[in-house]
Amino acid sequence: MKSSTPPLPHIPAGKKAIPGVRNVVVVASGKGGVGKSTTAVNLAVALAAQGLRIALVDADIYGPSVPLMMGLHNRQPKVANKTLFPLENYGVKTISIGYLTNPEQAMIWRGPMASGAVMQLLHDVQWVHDGEEIDILLLDLPPGTGDIHLTLSQQAPISGAVIVTTPQEVALIDCRKAITMFRKVSIPCLGVVENMREFVCPHCGEQSDLFAHDGAKALAEQQKIPLLGGVPLEPRIRQLSDAGTPITVTDPDSPQAAHYHTIANNLLVELDRLPRQVKIDIPVVQQ
Ligand SMILES: Nc1ncnc2c1ncn2[C@@H]1O[C@H](COP(=O)(O)OP(=O)(O)OP(=O)(O)O)[C@@H](O)[C@H]1O
Ligand SMILES: [Mg+2]
Repeated sequence: MKSSTPPLPHIPAGKKAIPGVRNVVVVASGKGGVGKSTTAVNLAVALAAQGLRIALVDADIYGPSVPLMMGLHNRQPKVANKTLFPLENYGVKTISIGYLTNPEQAMIWRGPMASGAVMQLLHDVQWVHDGEEIDILLLDLPPGTGDIHLTLSQQAPISGAVIVTTPQEVALIDCRKAITMFRKVSIPCLGVVENMREFVCPHCGEQSDLFAHDGAKALAEQQKIPLLGGVPLEPRIRQLSDAGTPITVTDPDSPQAAHYHTIANNLLVELDRLPRQVKIDIPVVQQ
């Protein structure tokens, strides 16, 4: 196993730090269904495989995917003194509203309640274990640029954002909106991931650009954001996600898993480039 030097903490000044968490990186897109959760899960596993302490928080209150994709959908976290204890699988600690609710039940919450719930999934969790802090907490965002995004952007100590998109224009439009939102709240965009980049027919080997070609590369150049990497449209990635055994776990040496390892390495480089911000631990006020 390759071991990486843990990134330095980047807690933006003026934001309340999450006890035990050194970096928070959001995985966002603007558009739904482009592969944020799949990318977040495989990226988390790829980073953990480098010996880093990784957490994955599912900020999708209305449609949590992390429990299923992490193979933990029947499990419930321990709760003690209003503190949640994260579940762990594949070397990644995770927390999701999906561990606490009936998966068949629709969550009918107004925006502020949902945003409050996500903040609790960050702050009311015992992240420190045996005195060890989380190096990177990945936050899998729901689609859009709504209440949850705004609350998190303004209140959570976010080091930076990874933008996931498919290459076609209709996804890129929403990505630009997400990038604009992050810029308005001074959250650095650490890079773009081009998902479902091409499809290679398993029968004839012909390559098709189902969702156009190099759209994310053009977006990255235009917005002056690094391109962290790309992942092809590959049925095995979907099958293994649905089975709760991500490709980075099941077949870590496959070419598909290699794409996620490249993205992980590039993300670490970009985190290293961030100016070290002041870490301030604002004491929690008891209600
Ligand atoms: N590279 C890929 N190849 C094949 N299937 C993929 C790939 N990336 C994602 N998928 C599949 O596409 C579907 C949507 O992916 P995912 O749930 O990760 O998207 P999302 O952006 O998180 O969606 P939402 O906006 O609803 O949260 C899933 O079934 C997933 O398995
Ligand atoms: Mg998702």
